[in-house]
Amino acid sequence: MWNIDEFTKAADITVGELAAYVDRSQRGDAPVVRREPPRELAGRLRLGELIADGGMTPETYREFLRTFLDEGTRLHHPAYMAHQSASPDFPAALADFIHGATNNPMAIYEMGAAAATVEFEVLRWMLAKVGFPQGGGVLTHGGSLANLTALLAARARVAPQAWEEGVPGDLVILAPPSAHYSVSRAASILGLGQRAMVPLATDDLGRIDITQLPDISGKRVMAVVAAACATGTGLYDDLRAIGEWCRERDLWFHVDGAHGASALLSERHAPLLAGIELADSVIWDAHKMLRTSALAAAVLVRREGDLDAAFKQEASYLFYGDQGFDLIGRTVECTKAELGLKIFLNLAWRGERGMGEHVAGRYATAHRFWELARRREGFTLPYEPESNIVCFRYGDADHAAIRERLMADGSFYLTSTELNGVRHLRVTVMSPATDDATLERLLDAVEAGWTS
Ligand SMILES: Cc1ncc(COP(=O)(O)O)c(C=O)c1O
Repeated sequence: MWNIDEFTKAADITVGELAAYVDRSQRGDAPVVRREPPRELAGRLRLGELIADGGMTPETYREFLRTFLDEGTRLHHPAYMAHQSASPDFPAALADFIHGATNNPMAIYEMGAAAATVEFEVLRWMLAKVGFPQGGGVLTHGGSLANLTALLAARARVAPQAWEEGVPGDLVILAPPSAHYSVSRAASILGLGQRAMVPLATDDLGRIDITQLPDISGKRVMAVVAAACATGTGLYDDLRAIGEWCRERDLWFHVDGAHGASALLSERHAPLLAGIELADSVIWDAHKMLRTSALAAAVLVRREGDLDAAFKQEASYLFYGDQGFDLIGRTVECTKAELGLKIFLNLAWRGERGMGEHVAGRYATAHRFWELARRREGFTLPYEPESNIVCFRYGDADHAAIRERLMADGSFYLTSTELNGVRHLRVTVMSPATDDATLERLLDAVEAGWTS
């Protein structure tokens, strides 16, 4: 049984340490990233000893937590501009805490009626935003699983016998080479193999050019996949043009909105997603731009029945008779976390408008970076950003080396990507603390490191 006093003490310590951690992080008053090797770190955190002997107390816990937080990556830091993981907002953090204590795994209604009902309402809200009035959805642990689930629904539509008999050899998925790797990974997991991935023509920034068709004679198209927005560049495909093209040919249109669907909440940026309502399926990650911790993603389909058709399962301990309100028939997972609560609490606290302002703010900061960099000599930026992702180069510098140097002293954390075979640095503005001064400092640091 829990010792309630001990729990309360430990929880108080957790809140105090986390508050100090986030405060320091968002003031930029600590390295944004540290990469001490695991052996040294394990020693400092006394991991082996604690695993073998246990006996942690509130005081040793405080010491452990302080070092643990100090040695991690700070996503609230102004200089955090790396992977597309949210700088989490505190209501969502509370949801994680609640889930940790209550463990009401959703998917089976009777295991957590409140948690499941929150998921239904969050999904209803997301479906309305996307424009699927007759739609259905489910929350999954991440965008990769969401892409897999959506493509499974697409497979069930074009080849309903595949669940029983295996996958016909003539199915193909049309996607640009810039599509997130989870799409082609899903093709292999689904039994289509990589040979089923047919690349769509693109412009030189990886956006689909629907006027140039690949040769698919003798093949059946299982799905056409577009990005809103693309992982590497943050650029949006023309969803309306692609959606209409799919409609004319009765093809399943899947929109990977893992990163960029949240722009639906910003009046200014929602037009980037015009035509999304033509999709058959959409995925949308909350742990990217809706400020929840990893993972919380939605799979949304235009016709609710399409998601129910994706899986056909027998398990007498779970599936019998009418499944009532259970969503378990729609997911790869059997047990899953209280994902809806994280999204709901952020919405409940900040409102849809506040969430939209968060997205618009990060998109604006990325655009500002583009403006500032263009004013300086030596920087090239291959496109005007549409989201919070910007790629750039500085002269002929060794870009992998620049990134490494910025990370080495913990001053900035960026990623990099190849565009047309050339490595670029990639800024993804995630933290509300990133401001103009941060951007100027980054540009100075890139220049200084390379010219000195
Ligand atoms: C466009 C896109 N789709 C899918 C994914 C995969 O999402 P997750 O990391 O939640 O599995 C990502 C992740 O960056 C992404 O950018």
